[in-house]
Amino acid sequence: MNTKTAKLNKTVLLGITGGIAAYKMSELIRMYKKQRFNVKVIATPNAFNFVTELTLATLSDNKVYSDNFDIKEYSPEHISLADEGDILVIAPASANTISKIADGICDNLLTSVTCAFNKPIIIAPAMNTNMWENKFIQANLKKLKSNGFNVLEPESGFLACGTEGKGRLCSLEKILDKTVEILEHNQPLKDKKIVITAGGTIEKLDPVRYISNFSSGKMGTALADNAYMMGAEVELISTFDIERPYKVTKVLSAEDMLTAVEGSKKNSDCVIMSAAVADYRAENYAEQKMKKTNDDKITISFVKNPDILKTISENKDGVKIVGFCAESENLLDNAKTKIKTKGCDYIIANDISRKDIGFSSDENEVYIIDRDLKTKHLKKAAKDKIAKQILEYIFGE
Ligand code: C5P
Repeated sequence: MNTKTAKLNKTVLLGITGGIAAYKMSELIRMYKKQRFNVKVIATPNAFNFVTELTLATLSDNKVYSDNFDIKEYSPEHISLADEGDILVIAPASANTISKIADGICDNLLTSVTCAFNKPIIIAPAMNTNMWENKFIQANLKKLKSNGFNVLEPESGFLACGTEGKGRLCSLEKILDKTVEILEHNQPLKDKKIVITAGGTIEKLDPVRYISNFSSGKMGTALADNAYMMGAEVELISTFDIERPYKVTKVLSAEDMLTAVEGSKKNSDCVIMSAAVADYRAENYAEQKMKKTNDDKITISFVKNPDILKTISENKDGVKIVGFCAESENLLDNAKTKIKTKGCDYIIANDISRKDIGFSSDENEVYIIDRDLKTKHLKKAAKDKIAKQILEYIFGE
């Protein structure tokens, strides 16, 4: 077995059907958990004849899903589970479940989830040799294989029914390795290192006061989360304290952010500047708290902050540089001018005059502009979805 530690944040839906090999799933769950996968078991009612719900729930550290409809709290679990899982692994897959799936039958939670699942599926059959050789079962397996299901053939050996032959569940290592292989294959940014900035910079006036802006950091954080889930090594340079499974570097001012970005840019493939960097900072930071005076007016003098995006675009060193452009008028014209003045490779433009998108909203609608001024419109959607589309676009070109 050559399984390497996979990235967390992946949910494996483990479908268990009613065959004697179901007892082995306790061990498979432990192996998945060692890889830091989140495991959610979906058991057919017959599976509980071979392994207890309590064992599965304890080992997976999750509720076990089956056909117990609690009317008071009914929710369409087959849809939410199908959305939640990154992969569905059915092991052991009985002849009965294989045939139902091949015919699109949805008569229990597992077959319903399978029908609604549009991500990778592994099927690990286990059954008596005669059942395995049955031509209808073989035809159904062929149907699944030709529709993209990953079938892990059973092995030959001593079977629980007392006979020798093909039908024994393949090794658990094989199931684990295939799971990791498929999940990693779905990580298009696996070899990339991406630095992303988020949040509004904080420019101190004195030990207790600062100027900043209303940036929520949501877009930058969504970009970092998605880049991580797509397999990239991520550093989020943020003005907010957040806990993430990837590196988060907290900064306050534009000057701190410039130092952090320049340091991390060296070994990276891409820098995405989604932070709202203050254009100015107080010329003189007051070491002591500024006192209220008798004057009705005070004057604070501001000096220009470094333009991080422009500075790092002067020496790209092969690093893809992406900037953001928040405009309240003439969005596309201003964005096209900005990509030239900043010198970056892409500008993501959004219209901040609209209340329904941008800043603290959970949604966004953007245009991605490249150096040839080719423009790609991403329709209004959740920031999370927009983030994924931005990454797919700039790394897919
Ligand atoms: O010039 P403007 O603020 O419109 O440019 C926005 C883009 O430039 C964003 O990507 C922002 O992160 C970046 N920026 C910067 N340094 C500044 C101001 C903005 O890197 N001082």
